[in-house]
Amino acid sequence: MSHRTTLTTASGIPVADNQNSLTAGPRGPVLLQDFHLIEKLQHFNRERVPERVVHAKGSAAYGTFTVTNDITQYSCAALFHTVGKQTPVFLRFSTVGGEKGSADTERDPRGFAVKFYTEEGNWDLAGNNTPVFFIKDPSKFPDFIHTQKRDPQTNLKSPTMMWDFWSQSPEALHQITTLFSDRGTPDGYRHMHGFGSHTFSFVNAVGERFWVKFHFRSMQGIKNLSVADAVRLAGEDPDYAQRDLFDAIDSKEFPRWRLCVQVMPEVEAESWSKKTGWNPFDLTKVWPYKDYPLIEVGVLELNRNPENYFAEVEQAAFSPANVVPGIGFSPDKMLQGRIFAYHDAHLYRVGTNYQQVPVNKPQCPYHTYQRDGAMRFDGNGGSGPNYEPNRFASAPKQAPAYKEPPLKVSGDADRYDHTVDGDPYTQAGNLFRVLKEDERDRLTSNIAGAMRGVPLDIIQRQLVHFAKADPHYGDAIARKLGVTAPDVQ
Ligand code: HEM
Repeated sequence: MSHRTTLTTASGIPVADNQNSLTAGPRGPVLLQDFHLIEKLQHFNRERVPERVVHAKGSAAYGTFTVTNDITQYSCAALFHTVGKQTPVFLRFSTVGGEKGSADTERDPRGFAVKFYTEEGNWDLAGNNTPVFFIKDPSKFPDFIHTQKRDPQTNLKSPTMMWDFWSQSPEALHQITTLFSDRGTPDGYRHMHGFGSHTFSFVNAVGERFWVKFHFRSMQGIKNLSVADAVRLAGEDPDYAQRDLFDAIDSKEFPRWRLCVQVMPEVEAESWSKKTGWNPFDLTKVWPYKDYPLIEVGVLELNRNPENYFAEVEQAAFSPANVVPGIGFSPDKMLQGRIFAYHDAHLYRVGTNYQQVPVNKPQCPYHTYQRDGAMRFDGNGGSGPNYEPNRFASAPKQAPAYKEPPLKVSGDADRYDHTVDGDPYTQAGNLFRVLKEDERDRLTSNIAGAMRGVPLDIIQRQLVHFAKADPHYGDAIARKLGVTAPDVQ
């Protein structure tokens, strides 16, 4: 005889009838004592957690990271110890500006957030599909994001807000050039690269520090959508990227990325900066490959779909603060801001004990003196002491062996003008110049299209930036907008 599972309340009490409310007479009214109905409605009312304030629309999968090349001369991180070593991962892709129900094919950077469940804790690399970003000081982030969201009155997306902000933030030019290029509308999540974007650090077993940039190279190759296809799919299949990723994994076509690093010895930061005029910790700049070529580290493969979207993807919480021994931060101001912002966001969005949700929980033992809080369900430290130092030999103690080498910092505390640190035009211009003629044509058409209807003073301010990056860049956009190109000589 087949075994039928009995429906119960959340407290395990069998439910006799899940279709008909308990009423006084066949036509009602409903009785308050129908606690199953009440529990059902109350829980339903609380089904949503707030969506992420950015990167709300996303898709994710589990997989494995396998080391293919020995980089132990740069990092002592346990996950890199031996060639062939495997570490479980969870990767969430996303768009940035749209709400949770928005279309996957919108022109936007794509989030590329990886959680490595290492034996020394979770390493989260929450990057994008672009090597640079729009801004380089964290104090500008909330303002920048407001321009990407909806106008406070019309509740519409507003190109005027976007270009008003960008035209007064010349450091955005490099990322704008990427965003409006073909790469701004990737064909799903499998056919794009991922980047840690910031400069991070590596520390090796003898305490030497290196500055490092992380690159995930798509082994499926780069594929982008034409503007026409992106717009069509936004209407026909707004969940295009979610479907593509889920179906590929479901049919065992496992997507893979080659993880590579660019490595700069700590002492070279100053000389490289002198030589190039760029700050190696500036998130709006890349390190040219000719200076720091890619070094392969391993292969990341996604091979398992989540069982439950809300439990695993919506509750997933990544934080740039999560680095493991052998991997560290850098002075990048944006990274420093993010070290604070994410844990704080998770405490608000998911709750005090969000790190205990299975997708966020370390897969190695963890021992903290943090206690209590809403929804504590990991035993809460049991009968062990909840303070430190203490007299209990078996209680968790700090381990000085994990201390990082000291980092020399200097300078007077002040609010330094970030706009004068490194010119915003050369690298944006270089990117424009490496594009083929047809790619430049699409880039400048995309930009002109996105600026249509924006007030002329904003357009003129922004055109100066394009022209300073490359006169052909400025001219082409001006021509397509039917306005005079600025004279920046
Ligand atoms: C998500 C803040 C810059 C990549 C988020 C979230 C916040 C945030 C609050 C939502 C977190 C959540 O609720 O789970 C910031 C701040 C930044 C910044 C304050 C600058 C100071 C960046 C940069 C990148 C980036 C530069 C990429 C290089 C991401 C990604 C997610 C995200 C990928 C989604 C993670 C996921 O899939 O859950 N950011 N962000 N952010 N951010 Fe940022």
